[in-house]
Amino acid sequence: MNSVAPLTAEGYRQELQQLLAGALQAFAAAESADQLEAARVHYLGAKNGLFKNVQKQLGQVVVAEKPLAGKHLNEAKDQIQEAFEQARLRFTAELRRGSLDPQFDPSLPGTGQRLGKLHPITQTIEELIDIMGRLGFTPAQGPEIEDEWHNFVALNIPASHPARDPLDNFYLAVAGRQTAEPLLLRSQTSTVQIRVMEQTRPPVRIISLGRVYRPDTADPTHYPMFHQIEGLMVDRKVTLADLKTVLKLFATNYLGSKVPIRIRPSFFPFTEPSVEADYFWNGRWVEFGGAGMVDPNVFAAVGYDPEEYSGFAFGLGIERLCMIRHQITDIRHLFTNDVRFLRQF
Ligand code: PHE
Repeated sequence: MNSVAPLTAEGYRQELQQLLAGALQAFAAAESADQLEAARVHYLGAKNGLFKNVQKQLGQVVVAEKPLAGKHLNEAKDQIQEAFEQARLRFTAELRRGSLDPQFDPSLPGTGQRLGKLHPITQTIEELIDIMGRLGFTPAQGPEIEDEWHNFVALNIPASHPARDPLDNFYLAVAGRQTAEPLLLRSQTSTVQIRVMEQTRPPVRIISLGRVYRPDTADPTHYPMFHQIEGLMVDRKVTLADLKTVLKLFATNYLGSKVPIRIRPSFFPFTEPSVEADYFWNGRWVEFGGAGMVDPNVFAAVGYDPEEYSGFAFGLGIERLCMIRHQITDIRHLFTNDVRFLRQF
C-alpha cells in the first residue's frame, strides 16, 4: 500500500524556505532581463513553476496544521515576488530600450545628427598649402612666442624703429625671466624666414602659415590675432619678375580665373626693393599684401652671401583672402564661433 508520510506545518515551512532560497539566488544571479524572466518562469510560472508544485503539496499537510501551513505559503509567496520586483529594477534601463517598452514611440521624429566641418580659416589654409605646394613651396613652422632677434633684429628692424614700440606689440611678462631677453607674441610670420634660413642652406622655397598678434582694436577689418601666409624663395638669380609670377599664379589659382596683378613701391625693413601687391577682382583693385626682394642685411644676419644669392619674400593676410572668397564683411564673425555662421562654409 502506498502511503505518503503526513506533512507537518514545520516540514512544509522548511520546503518553502528551500524554494525561497533557490529563487533569491536565481534572481540575484540573473545577468540580463531575459535571464531574470527565465528565472521567474522557473519559480513562479503559472503552469509548471516550482512554487506551483509546492502549493499543491499543501493538500498533504495534516488537517489540524493546514491553517498555519497556509500562512507560511502566503508569506513565502510574498517574499519571492518582492525579491523578483527588486531584481527587476536592475534591468529597467535595459527594458526601456526594448521594443516592448511602452515609453518608446517609434512614430516620433528622430534627432538629426550634424557632421562638423573645418573652420573657414582652416579650409583656406589647407587650400593655400595645396596651391603653393604645386608651385614647389613646402610648409615650414615657427613658434608664436618669439624673441626680438627673430621678430625684429635679424629682419633688419633696428631698436629705434616704430614697429618695436611696446604699445604696438604683445610683449610677455614671463615669471622668473625678467632679466633675460624679452619675449613677445610674433607680430608677423616673417620670423619663420629667419628660422628657416638659420637652419638650411639655399635653395629655399618655403611658405609659413600661422597666427600673428598685434594690439589692434577689433573692428570689421581688424582683430588682435590673425593669420598670415609667408613665402620665401632664395636661390641664385631670383628676381622681382619671379615674385610677380608667383603672386599672379597664386591669385589665379586661388580665385579660379585669370587675375591681373599690380605691384606698387613700398617699404619694409627686410626687403629692398619693397612692394605692395594688389589683384584686380570684381571690378576693383584689392590689396594682397607686402612683398619684396630679401634685404642683403637679412642675408648677412643668417650667414647667406648676398653676392651669391638673391630671393623674394611675401606676407599675405589669410583672413582677407578667406573673406574675399566667401564675401564675409566682418572679420569678427570668423572668431565669434557662432555655429549659425560657421555652418555656411
Ligand atoms: N611681414 C610683413 C607684414 O606683416 C609682410 C611682408 C612679408 C612684407 C614679407 C615683405 C616681405 O606686414
